[in-house]
Amino acid sequence: MRASSTRTFFTLLLTASLGSAATAGACSSDPEPAVDAGVDTGTIDAEIADTTPPTADAGDSAAPSPCDDKGTDGLVNLLSCTGLYADFGAKTLAPNVKPYVPGTPFWSDGAEKSRFLLLPAGQKIDTTDMDAWKWPIGTKVWKEFKLEGKRIETRYYTKVGADKWLRSSYRWDATEKQAVRLDKGAKLADGYEIPSVQKCDTCHYGGGDQLLGLDAISLAMPDAQGITLDGLATDGWLTKPPAKTRAVFPEDATGKAAKAIQWLHANCASCHNDSPFAAATIIPLRFALKSSEVLSDTPTPVRGLSLYTTAYCTNARFVGDSGVLKNIAGGSRGASAAYLRANLREPTEREQMPPIATHKIDTVGVGLIGDWFDALPPCP
Ligand code: HEC
Ligand code: HEC
Repeated sequence: MRASSTRTFFTLLLTASLGSAATAGACSSDPEPAVDAGVDTGTIDAEIADTTPPTADAGDSAAPSPCDDKGTDGLVNLLSCTGLYADFGAKTLAPNVKPYVPGTPFWSDGAEKSRFLLLPAGQKIDTTDMDAWKWPIGTKVWKEFKLEGKRIETRYYTKVGADKWLRSSYRWDATEKQAVRLDKGAKLADGYEIPSVQKCDTCHYGGGDQLLGLDAISLAMPDAQGITLDGLATDGWLTKPPAKTRAVFPEDATGKAAKAIQWLHANCASCHNDSPFAAATIIPLRFALKSSEVLSDTPTPVRGLSLYTTAYCTNARFVGDSGVLKNIAGGSRGASAAYLRANLREPTEREQMPPIATHKIDTVGVGLIGDWFDALPPCP
């Protein structure tokens, strides 16, 4: 595991760089108009309006390249400089950048998401600990968010040192010609939130090596596409390939467990796991599955999963209208803190789950867990 001092330092470093200019290549004769209908404007949009998309050919060598514009952490200020697209205007992916779809997505307030991974050639992912992969230096991952068909933000993680990642989100302009680094986050008019880099850390520090959806279990889910555990093993990317590359999610007598368990893993595991860096590590509730539980010829029965043993009929601190709740109350979603808190959004974000960066309820997902909790036997 990582030293916490590295992380504290890393956070301070990025905090210090927040003020850095997010404008670059101001050499255009035709700046983009600052039109961003329906979106809370202010300084962010003004900055974007001043920004010129860099061209593939940055001009003569005397002129500074727009890609020299970086924060003090070294992360570029323009998405076009990260290497996602070979042709930024046409949105043609760069060679070696692979799209993928996780088996069960993390809810992002209804945004449409695309994800892309670049693994550095000739390197391997250190899978010695199947539940905490170590990615090679040079790994890059992007997650692009669209609302009503338009690119809003593209989030980016790149590994630049043994324990060091750079990360930020890039906010697209109204014409989708450029996206500019935005460390401080933004709330859009329709309530959608681009999280600040501090919020990235709250969730992503809970990952084995900061990445979250690219874990053995998510890549082994039946619906995973593009990059799968099986594909990575076959193509020789893993230092220690697992014996089984397809996850089996246990079912119980309710017939509703397997889907609910996958949703809880995808949506709640980042904070509710064993890592000392996970945001909810102080409470004993664990929604993360372990690879030994589901990547095995004999998958752990539901009743043996830590997801179940730490939650089913255990007392929650959260007190609802009906008094003290169980984290999962058998027979009653309404007496289950896990259901009530996932089915809640509030301006103060105090009790809702996840407690940050979400303002709309995943009604389909909470329906899955509600149905399962209702069907479980009552607590003694
Ligand atoms: C509320 C928790 C949360 C916050 C806040 C958050 N993320 Fe994530 N992120 C996740 C989860 C969970 C996944 C994996 C599932 C998926 O891809 O949908 C993920 C996936 C990603 C991925 C794909 C690679 C991976 O880790 O699986 C990138 C890139 C990413 N996030 C970047 C960011 C950046 C940059 C920020 C801050 C600007 C951020 N995220 C904020 C939870 C969060
Ligand atoms: C960004 C991190 C984060 C994510 C993601 C997250 N949680 Fe939490 N959760 C916490 C923290 C921190 C606590 C402890 C403080 C508190 O109770 O608010 C907590 C506490 C809880 C509790 C304890 C209730 C109690 O009263 O003792 C429940 C139940 C819970 N979370 C359910 C969920 C569910 C269900 C999900 C997924 C939909 C989820 N959480 C996702 C951070 C998170």
